[in-house]
Amino acid sequence: MELIEKIIDDKIQGKALVTENKAENSKKLFIESYGCQMNMNDSEIVAAILDKEGYNTTQILEEADLVLVNTCSIREKAETTVRKRLQKYNAVKKVNPKMKVGVLGCMAERLKEKFLEEEKIVDLVVGPDAYRDLPNLLGEVSEGRDAVNVILSKDETYGDVSPVRLNSNGVSAFVSITRGCDNMCTFCVVPFTRGRERSRDPKSILEEIQSMIDKGFKEITLLGQNVDSFLWFGGGLKKDFKKASEMAQATAVDFAQLLDMCATQFPKTRFRFSTSNPQDMSLDVIHVMAKHKNICKYIHLPVQSGSNAMLKAMNRQHTREEYMQLVDNIYKIVPEMSLSQDIIVGFCGETEQDHKDTLELMEYVKYDFGFMFAYSERPGTLAGKKMEDDVPAAVKKRRLQEVIDLQQEHALYRTQQHLGKVEEVLIEGTSKKNPNEWKGRNTQNTVIVFAKEHYKLGDFVNVKVEDCTSATLRGTAVGYSDNN
Ligand code: SAH
Ligand code: F3S
Repeated sequence: MELIEKIIDDKIQGKALVTENKAENSKKLFIESYGCQMNMNDSEIVAAILDKEGYNTTQILEEADLVLVNTCSIREKAETTVRKRLQKYNAVKKVNPKMKVGVLGCMAERLKEKFLEEEKIVDLVVGPDAYRDLPNLLGEVSEGRDAVNVILSKDETYGDVSPVRLNSNGVSAFVSITRGCDNMCTFCVVPFTRGRERSRDPKSILEEIQSMIDKGFKEITLLGQNVDSFLWFGGGLKKDFKKASEMAQATAVDFAQLLDMCATQFPKTRFRFSTSNPQDMSLDVIHVMAKHKNICKYIHLPVQSGSNAMLKAMNRQHTREEYMQLVDNIYKIVPEMSLSQDIIVGFCGETEQDHKDTLELMEYVKYDFGFMFAYSERPGTLAGKKMEDDVPAAVKKRRLQEVIDLQQEHALYRTQQHLGKVEEVLIEGTSKKNPNEWKGRNTQNTVIVFAKEHYKLGDFVNVKVEDCTSATLRGTAVGYSDNN
């Protein structure tokens, strides 16, 4: 249980993000990122934009000229964490009044100008689609004016900005392929903070991947709130096409095709993607995964609940039965696939039976990993406006514990299935617990640790799995894999 909670915490932990510095840059940027991988990747875009403005990154808050915090609004706890950080910046600003503080991302979008009033220390508020405006906004701030840009865009994808990789291991990196989300799950604030869904030009995606490979990266994760609905129409947005016939004439690239293009063009590079929405995941995608060894056999497939009543109230566009059918198909086409979930317990009106349905669905799938949350009402969402957050906190807590405990059992069941097998692992770094051991992941995304011997960071190594906990495999390297 502790481990799973830690994973959840890690998902929302902020870190001072740093990269190699340039001698010609004289100003110092302290940037922290909270929330999803998309935010991390956005911070890399922001660092790239500010690099051109003369900023180097720093890990030392006290020496920063500019402090930026990229924020998350997904649950109340994420927002509380950021507010605490702002208090810390405030203390530093008292000693160093020249330091400027900016709030980026989802909280900036959600709270807009209110931030400048509520948090007197904030000089700059910038929403997720306005990062290109940062140089201009910083100009405003240097002239003593507060600066806000929270305009959401229908087409901004930052396709031409080459992100500066922050806190990178030099082996694995993220590439955004879509922004925003049109799904309007009733509990979720993302469509309001990140705006309409839009897909990025495949050409710029492939170019970015090529440049990452040139720098030595071995694994790329394609990112989007809902990658399966990726659709590129040679310039247009999916929503711009009113008629199916118009769409058919345009040369479209969907997610399965994009994945196929990536895996074919870069056969030595591992590909992952996140997140998949069950309603949009096509069997074509699974077939493409089956076709290419270099597409990792892992799907993050949030279900949220195993109860049809809850799925309906959440405005998820699939039933429990359709989800199970999809899972059956996935395991049929790729038997070694690993799956993970997001589950929300205690959503509005959730009964004991709804909760049991969730536990039962978990039994059916036996997820390899899971991210589990107690429902947290978000102002502005449909559930926030129209539904009653009526499950008592103590009940939410107990239900959350039950799903976490069950997930722990399933995770152990899944890791045990690897025992005795020889699996390809990409070395991503030194194990946190032992400096003499490497840590990497197999295709299923399970972490494996093993003795370093003569192997190096970024090598693909075959490892014989000898032991496991519910979260980690342990083994011995038996040689290089044929992917080096
Ligand atoms: N499609 C997105 C989902 C982002 S939110 C993606 O890329 O992963 C991540 C998860 O947070 C959701 O799947 C959901 O399980 C959880 N979540 C979202 N809103 C929530 C809320 N109001 N309360 C609790 N959990 C929530
Ligand atoms: Fe949120 Fe649902 Fe989109 S969880 S990000 S509205 S798919």
